[in-house]
Amino acid sequence: MSAQPSPAQILGTAFSFWSSKVLLTAVEFQLFTKLGSRRLTGAELGRELQLHPRAIADFFDALVALGFLGRDGNGPHAVYFNTPEGAHFLDASSPRYVGGILVMLNARLFRFWNDLPDALRTGKPQNESKHGQKSLFEQLYAELPKLEQFLGAMTGISRINFETFAERFDFKRYKTLCDVGGATGLLCIEAAKRHPHLQCISFDLPPVEPVAQRHIREAGLSARVSTAKGDFFRDPLPRADVITMGMILHDWNLEKKKHLIRSAYDALPDGGALVAIEALIDDERRTNAFGLLMSLNMLIEFGDAFDFSGADFRGWCSEAGFRRFEVIHLQGAHSAAVAYK
Ligand SMILES: C[S@@+](CC[C@H](N)C(=O)[O-])C[C@H]1O[C@@H](n2cnc3c(N)ncnc32)[C@H](O)[C@@H]1O
Repeated sequence: MSAQPSPAQILGTAFSFWSSKVLLTAVEFQLFTKLGSRRLTGAELGRELQLHPRAIADFFDALVALGFLGRDGNGPHAVYFNTPEGAHFLDASSPRYVGGILVMLNARLFRFWNDLPDALRTGKPQNESKHGQKSLFEQLYAELPKLEQFLGAMTGISRINFETFAERFDFKRYKTLCDVGGATGLLCIEAAKRHPHLQCISFDLPPVEPVAQRHIREAGLSARVSTAKGDFFRDPLPRADVITMGMILHDWNLEKKKHLIRSAYDALPDGGALVAIEALIDDERRTNAFGLLMSLNMLIEFGDAFDFSGADFRGWCSEAGFRRFEVIHLQGAHSAAVAYK
């Protein structure tokens, strides 16, 4: 007997913006950071977050039911506490904090996705640039707080992928690494921490350099991780045995993707590797829903930019002269696509 169709997935997805907004708002209120290692009643925690009494139990208990907050007991005397995941990843004082991406989702993308229909009909971006002239990066880099928010978001989405990449990629054969569009220097920091023989360069636009330098200093890695500033469409890339690009190629149209791949080819020695870390779409475009949604997000952010599959990457890199390829799965929807010169 065939199973009856169920509307559960349809309804679950349709309502999922409710749970998303509850979690994003908790991060915006710094709930997990303020709670820290304490155990507080709803009234105590509600007071710290300046919540209306009507909202307290529903907000905190929804977070409990969704699995983002722990609670001992029931009723007004119950105490709320951080789960191990909340303490690790959503308390801003944790070294493995990823909340920056949730802050940006709430502050920017939640609104911009409301204009998905316009994006689908026009092929045009729906972000800040919809009403102004400047590109996303010009907009972000015009104000330091926006830059910090964006770079924090990148750390949030990339941290566990970079940790996994540093663990799984075979760095033994290589001495130097350049991370192109390196943002806060996170990929270089993770690779240098795990591989004491590596010298790394984090390359990005000039306004990003002081932020990267601060993070590298704080990680105690200034002797082996340096920064270089430049524009990857105007300047040659620093020469290195391995060139990484974390969520760089997906920001651009096909012509610019190919330009970046050619620049990497020119900067690598024979045997060197170009690595693209992305939410790589499966070759048949059927299963990596997050990668496909990320590509729609690139439509919202840039219009003509798009995510791609391992097969796409292999085709573009073959044209540039790369000879061998592999895909290393990282975490969740993310993989490292590797092309060897
Ligand atoms: C989507 S972020 C990715 C950050 C980081 N690689 C990661 O995966 O978390 C894109 C990065 O490219 C940098 N970028 C954008 N345009 C650039 C350009 N023309 N030259 C150099 N870097 C650029 C941005 O400053 C930003 O750090």
